[in-house]
Amino acid sequence: MVKKLSALGMILVFMAVFIGVAIAEGKGNSRKGKYLFRKSCRTCHTDGAAAKDLSPVSKTQAEWVKTFEALDTLQCKEEWANLSEQDSLDIYSYLHGHAFDSPSPAKCK
Ligand code: HEC
Repeated sequence: MVKKLSALGMILVFMAVFIGVAIAEGKGNSRKGKYLFRKSCRTCHTDGAAAKDLSPVSKTQAEWVKTFEALDTLQCKEEWANLSEQDSLDIYSYLHGHAFDSPSPAKCK
């Protein structure tokens, strides 16, 4: 039991490091992220739907970094569980890359 738990702990640590490094290296595909964001997030995150309107310019780059460092605290974390690691990275790349204070803020949603 203890062995199993520590193995799980190791896997979680590896995953966190992997995602952290991938984000730092900019491994996400922003164009794919835009598509995925519309498909998987905007269904709820739009005016008049269940959650508040969200788009890349809703936050600064630093705020997106913070958000992605604490995905497990979001109210919609179950939705994230359906996404692959690569999909999450692509969405991150889109949101962060076109954030409010980025060199190329998103103009349309
Ligand atoms: C089934 C509906 C649903 C889906 C799909 C969904 N969310 Fe959410 N999300 C919510 C609700 C409800 C909240 C909490 C209320 C709020 O913040 O509007 C929330 C909260 C958030 C927050 C925190 C609010 C903030 O401004 O920091 C972020 C960020 C977020 N979601 C991002 C996403 C992203 C990115 C996706 C796509 C991967 C996504 N959500 C998919 C329903 C959803």
